[in-house]
Amino acid sequence: MEKDLTEASFRADLIGEGKKYIIITFGCQANEFDTEVLAGMLESMGYCTASAPEDADLILINTCAVRRKPEEKVAGMLGRLRKLKEKNDGLVIAVGGCMSQQPAVAADLARRFPFVNLIFGTHALPRFPQILAQARGAGRPLIDVAENGGSREGLPVRRSSSFHAWLPVIYGCNNYCSYCIVPHVRGRERSRPFKNIVAEARSLAAAGYKEITLLGQNVNSYGNDRKEGYDFADLLAELDRIEGLWRIRFLTSHPKDLSPRLIGVMSRGKKICEHLHLPAQAGSNRILKMMNRRYTREKYLELIGALREAVPRIALTTDLMVAFPGESEADFGETMDLLDEARFDQAYTFIYSPRPGTAAARIDDPLSAADKRERLQRLVRRQNQISLEINRTLVGQTVELMVEGRSKSDPAMQSGRTRTNKLVHFAASADLGGKLVEVEITGAFTWYLAGKRIEPLPGSVPDRMGRSGRDG
Ligand code: SAH
Ligand code: SF4
Ligand code: F3S
Repeated sequence: MEKDLTEASFRADLIGEGKKYIIITFGCQANEFDTEVLAGMLESMGYCTASAPEDADLILINTCAVRRKPEEKVAGMLGRLRKLKEKNDGLVIAVGGCMSQQPAVAADLARRFPFVNLIFGTHALPRFPQILAQARGAGRPLIDVAENGGSREGLPVRRSSSFHAWLPVIYGCNNYCSYCIVPHVRGRERSRPFKNIVAEARSLAAAGYKEITLLGQNVNSYGNDRKEGYDFADLLAELDRIEGLWRIRFLTSHPKDLSPRLIGVMSRGKKICEHLHLPAQAGSNRILKMMNRRYTREKYLELIGALREAVPRIALTTDLMVAFPGESEADFGETMDLLDEARFDQAYTFIYSPRPGTAAARIDDPLSAADKRERLQRLVRRQNQISLEINRTLVGQTVELMVEGRSKSDPAMQSGRTRTNKLVHFAASADLGGKLVEVEITGAFTWYLAGKRIEPLPGSVPDRMGRSGRDG
């Protein structure tokens, strides 16, 4: 039954037999998942993976528009691909994702890189096989930025991991934070049917997946547009009951929509991990108002107080932006103070980047680039101290890790994540990817921890331990 939901309605012509593809992905987890869907569709069309762009018949770039830098990287990459195209006339180049969804940007890309075959936005994803087939033969870029995307249910997915899966619950965003391009390129909120999400989570568990991460720009508004009587707290409580899954995570939460019921479900959940990513963006009420975030600094601090009370071991991470247009030194000081009051485990920090078409892009922005960088440095330096202080308190503790696989920097080490989403490296000769292990934390750094594996006692089941990883 589950299989019908994910595979049944999809049909595509076998235009890729004997051909190879590669997808280069920018941006957030929503884009990583879209890449898995695009890969799923390409493989249904007969394509198989290429190891490098030089080896591919089809190169697809899945773009991000959230700041200027990822957009510039795409332009640089397309400049380099021009040479490959000159050498191999049969090469098909496609550009998809958030950058291409903006009509002016799509037109500009087509003008600057006329050798590109297809430029398509996020809404076009379900019709990708058809537009790719059309675009291959055309002499100039085919542009598809139409917003009538149709349903995304039932598209094939080629997952990049065999134990962790992304599971979208809601697409789009209605919040229109004044700086943000996402609502412009991802459209209005569309929640997936409750029963489809639950069925998909069950079939993932049955297929051996141990961890799922629920995705949405604002998962807390799940259900608002469906009127089925279910909200995100209901969904999470239902998924927590699925046998076979060990860990459930979700991204992203908006502070204005995080309900007391959700905090309750998190505190009672067995598989719901003790980690919450809760973007604060700024510490000044004046700036939060200009950002259209619709909460105050006081409300935010109250919320994390309630979370820490309900889920004592919870790790909190956040996103913060410096140099929003008009941010004064005093406003910035309030963001600095927020670090000390909130004591985040980790913060992702950004310099504000004006996005054409957003409300904030019209505000005067007189601060120099050097001053903006200097604010970012001060923020990062303070947060790094706090992250290190918090990580040091973990030394000597025994924690449950879900192993992701060999460490990227040292093949003699394995890397895993705690339930609180902290990265831990430990020595192990065998590849333990997808297993649960126990380690003792032996060293603390700003961005990761070092650990020593505790060998399981004879008779215990080594990959099913842990307080709440166990079913039932
Ligand atoms: N939907 C999520 C993530 C949005 S994008 C959320 O609401 O939290 C991820 C982060 O990028 C944001 O949290 C914000 O900190 C940052 N960001 C978004 N637009 C930006 C811009 N114009 N300039 C700099 N950073 C931005
Ligand atoms: Fe952007 Fe705000 Fe929506 Fe997040 S909630 S995607 S920051 S508009
Ligand atoms: Fe970027 Fe689009 Fe995600 S703009 S951050 S890839 S939703």
